[in-house]
Amino acid sequence: MFRDGARKSAWQNEVKWYGTIFNRETEFDAVIVGGGITGISTAHQLQLRGLKCLVLEAHNIGFGTTGGTTAHLNDFFDTTFSYAIDKFGVENARMLAEGGREALRNVESNIVQYGIDCDFQRKTAELFALDDRQAEQLEDIVEGARSIGYGMEYTEAIEYPFEFKKAVSIPDQGQFHPIKYIRALADIFIDNGGALAENCICSSFTETADGVVLQTSLGEIRAKNAVFATHTPPGISLLHFTCAPYRSYVIAFTLKDGALPETLGYDLGEPYHYYRVHEIDGKKMIIAGGEDHKTGHSDDTGACFSRLENHCREYFQIDRIEYAWSSQYFEPADGLPSIGVLPASEGRVYVATGFRGNGMTFGTLSAKIIAELITDGASRFEKLFDPKRFKPTAGFANLIKENATVVKDMVGDKIGMDRVRSLADIGAGEARVVRLEGHSYAVFAEKSGKLHVVKSTCPHANCEVRWNNAELSWDCPCHGSRFDVNGGLLNGPSTSGLEPIGDE
Ligand code: FES
Repeated sequence: MFRDGARKSAWQNEVKWYGTIFNRETEFDAVIVGGGITGISTAHQLQLRGLKCLVLEAHNIGFGTTGGTTAHLNDFFDTTFSYAIDKFGVENARMLAEGGREALRNVESNIVQYGIDCDFQRKTAELFALDDRQAEQLEDIVEGARSIGYGMEYTEAIEYPFEFKKAVSIPDQGQFHPIKYIRALADIFIDNGGALAENCICSSFTETADGVVLQTSLGEIRAKNAVFATHTPPGISLLHFTCAPYRSYVIAFTLKDGALPETLGYDLGEPYHYYRVHEIDGKKMIIAGGEDHKTGHSDDTGACFSRLENHCREYFQIDRIEYAWSSQYFEPADGLPSIGVLPASEGRVYVATGFRGNGMTFGTLSAKIIAELITDGASRFEKLFDPKRFKPTAGFANLIKENATVVKDMVGDKIGMDRVRSLADIGAGEARVVRLEGHSYAVFAEKSGKLHVVKSTCPHANCEVRWNNAELSWDCPCHGSRFDVNGGLLNGPSTSGLEPIGDE
């Protein structure tokens, strides 16, 4: 399937398999772990600055969030400018906006310079408030934006069929096909001598006096620097306490009446819905997303799709749902991403994570920041996004809240698991975590009756996994590792799968 779930995303047909293009004798300046937009863009940026780079990807390029995003390109963010002003001051909020603008310019200039065919379009975005609470929130968003000189104009009409209380339009946003874009960047990187290894997992790393040693499934690899573009790095890091994994749901559908909006659309619900149009294989469709929740914290992920579909059917004349998939992203405790030197590193290990719903923009910006930090030793964005910034001030309440949930997940699941006498108690098509003879197992019974049984304890930090019936995966509620029904690793931070028991 080439992605981290059982459902196909609208982008998957464009995935290309690269395999291993890698000479072991090369002395690498940087190893980049993770082949999504962040990893590939970082490799490209570092190569432009003359560095010899290797990209390691545990599966295939675009397997994770870049293959599951809806690929909005925004320079306004889920973290509003008014929130940023409040928490970090006007200058930092201004810098946040500049970072967004710079990322969009960077994407566009790559597309123009290399002639990348990735369906890129500049678009106007529309933010609309559907009730009084949202209208108040929108006023606050506009006030914050205006106070840093960011253009948002109230509008009387929007292109989406919602009755709204207030709306604004925001020019110069964008959209593209994420896999076509990173595939083209990967091709350019490889054509210029870049090394790449797919199906290669990095399980741990050690920082030395002159570089970084990575333990990987291809053996030990050394480099002067390492960049983890995998959301969170292997092992236990401060980042696991400052970023929380979430899932978002997407459906892509054609319309009976063909009235397709030209804009990007966003309501201000909690969680909010987001919309745009893309033509795939000759079919123009609306791609709508929402129903977000913390990973492993929905009893019925299939119902998230049903709610999203019902919501869309209320407003659109849906002809056919062509795609339905979900994807993972990370929420930072204080609203800003962590981009830069990994906490506890001496300065040779870098990380980029906590992008909220703005992964395409922050992934691109991360590439620039990390390339500057590695080659120039400084970036004007480094303080704002410093991964070491977390102290018991900004966002500390959220940080505690996220980790209180983690502790509850670790303890609660140990004592709350189903107890069944035999695996035969699990019906066809069902999945459960069960405790048998002192051990706990994650059991999935196919409709045919075939059982898939694996140990249910997440290898990362021993939480119990929970069933995701929409993507047929076992999801860890603590830090977001995910596994297929046979225990195979889909998403880190775990670097190994669930311990297998075998099929019966
Ligand atoms: Fe950390 Fe599972 S992801 S315990």
